[in-house]
Amino acid sequence: MSGPPISLSGITVLYGPKPAAAWPRVQAMAREGASIAAIRTATGHVPGLLDATLDLPAGSLCVVMGLSGSGKSTLLRCINRLVTPFAGRVQVGEVDVTALDVAALRAFRRTSAAMVFQHFGLLPRRSALENVAFPLRIAGKPPAAAHDAARAVLARLGLDAVAGEPVEALSAGMKQRVGLARALVTDAPVLLMDEPFGALDPITRRAVQDELKGLQRDLRKTVVVITHDPHEALRLADFIAVVREGRVVQSGAPDALMRAPADDHVAALLAAAQT
Ligand SMILES: Nc1ncnc2c1ncn2[C@@H]1O[C@H](COP(=O)(O)OP(=O)(O)O)[C@@H](O)[C@H]1O
Ligand SMILES: [Mg+2]
Repeated sequence: MSGPPISLSGITVLYGPKPAAAWPRVQAMAREGASIAAIRTATGHVPGLLDATLDLPAGSLCVVMGLSGSGKSTLLRCINRLVTPFAGRVQVGEVDVTALDVAALRAFRRTSAAMVFQHFGLLPRRSALENVAFPLRIAGKPPAAAHDAARAVLARLGLDAVAGEPVEALSAGMKQRVGLARALVTDAPVLLMDEPFGALDPITRRAVQDELKGLQRDLRKTVVVITHDPHEALRLADFIAVVREGRVVQSGAPDALMRAPADDHVAALLAAAQT
């Protein structure tokens, strides 16, 4: 089963105490091309995203690239509504995520969209096996079945030998593989990853990137990876979106962006990847 397409239309996120009151001023400044910093100073509100529209293709490895503070994490968090947009709509396959009630949202996160955090979020004293089995146990799977499924995914990532080791005893690269295994074990067709490889040394980083690429090819999930690293973006992506100042400035296949970058910023990011 291939992962679903993900569509964001007209997404605006406003961080601050009174988004509705600030919105007219934010919108007026945004129309004049004001920077996020200028909008923050004038309104006391920070636009995490401003009228961002993006269609991510089904079953592909999508990379969202941009400088620090451009809105990448905000965009990713709108997909599973860890951040609630002030305006706009998020659609994951048939599901209108923006319309889900609390119970439906919880079910959606558990069954449909797994998230890998940069700092792993693993239980350090527990074994790799227990960590990977954890989401299945939460979902009510009996221990034996959960452990069998966890063992299969650990084997796939070359972790069989350390399955019984406490996570705190593992190297950073292995921890990250355990984090990846825990996200993959649930069968969720969407995988959301916020700068997942930032803490790894360059060699390990390449190895885990290659593993993710291979797994995605086999499993055909819709994977969304955030990075500020142009090398990583080009290494991984079937599809790239470039975010700047809360806006999606260009998206498409990597070679389409290379052939015709939308502006100097996109051109500079892509050029940086080739050095
Ligand atoms: N919880 C928050 N409260 C206030 N401002 C925030 C919050 N989260 C993010 N921001 C601001 O929103 C903008 C986009 O942030 P973010 O999505 O984290 O960017 P990125 O992941 O690309 O670094 C930045 O200006 C950031 O400071
Ligand atoms: Mg971020």
